[in-house]
Amino acid sequence: MSEPVYHVPVLLQEVIDGLNIRPQGAYVDCTFGGGGHSKEILKKLGEQGRLIVFDQDADARINVPDDQRVHFMPHNFRHMQRFLRLHKIEAVDGILADLGVSSHQFDEADRGFSTRFDGDLDMRMDKRQDLTAFTVVSTYSEQQLHKLFEQYGEVTNAKTLARTIVQVRTTVSLKTIANFKQALHSVVKGNPNRYFAQVFQALRIEVNDELGALKDLLLQTPAVLKTGGRVAIITFHSLEDRLVKNFFKKGSFDEEEDANPFGQNTPANPFTVITKKPVVPSDKELRLNPRSRSAKLRIAEKR
Ligand SMILES: C[S@@+](CC[C@H](N)C(=O)[O-])C[C@H]1O[C@@H](n2cnc3c(N)ncnc32)[C@H](O)[C@@H]1O
Repeated sequence: MSEPVYHVPVLLQEVIDGLNIRPQGAYVDCTFGGGGHSKEILKKLGEQGRLIVFDQDADARINVPDDQRVHFMPHNFRHMQRFLRLHKIEAVDGILADLGVSSHQFDEADRGFSTRFDGDLDMRMDKRQDLTAFTVVSTYSEQQLHKLFEQYGEVTNAKTLARTIVQVRTTVSLKTIANFKQALHSVVKGNPNRYFAQVFQALRIEVNDELGALKDLLLQTPAVLKTGGRVAIITFHSLEDRLVKNFFKKGSFDEEEDANPFGQNTPANPFTVITKKPVVPSDKELRLNPRSRSAKLRIAEKR
């Protein structure tokens, strides 16, 4: 039997075209995974080019090619600038982040990401961290659970779900996926697969602090990019896409400047937005890779 594919890169050609790769440049792939995007970036880089790749999941290391231009950082990309400095790299020509989990993570039962299998309710991309999905459902308050299911999962009955979790966890263990689904079957609304997919998405985003990491990364991009350098981000969730869109538009997360009618003291936006609308997968890509369906690519260039 053939080996399962680690991950099929999404919007591959669109990313490579959009990064406008300089052959002698330095690039960062923040989300190395199966290395599909990195492989194409390397094809465009000359011998002097450099590719720094991050992945907080130790499993990704097996995909790192034997290539002296590649430097693997087994860390969270929220520390990008620190690790670049450590390697004496002050500025780069391009940054890519293809957010979320890989097919490998999703398809490995014991990682706990998928509702299709049983295993520990884990969901950590980085196994060095302590917080797991089990910790979230067994220690968070009802309000915290309500908020995260509503915001990150858009779960229709988030309040009921949160209340039920807090009730059942006093008598039932929620340690495994089977335990969790069994204990909550009475609150499921609509199609159970879809319902639990939304619930799991919310837990995954919380466990890995996915929005916090994205914010930290975005905040570092203006300082790390050279003039004319590009940042390309692929998101899979509307909250992520909104963060990227607004950050590229303003160069900050400040809400206040909108309230200032004269624009005084508003720092100049360091970016030119390259993609006025997000780039989405073609019909062909959707047919070949249904997992690409909610992908949105946005690109900006440092002024
Ligand atoms: C969608 S996959 C990327 C796939 C990759 N572009 C490819 O072509 O194979 C996302 C990868 O990024 C990693 N990842 C997600 N968030 C991360 C973060 N904050 N820091 C470091 N790695 C992260 C995950 O562990 C996963 O391997």
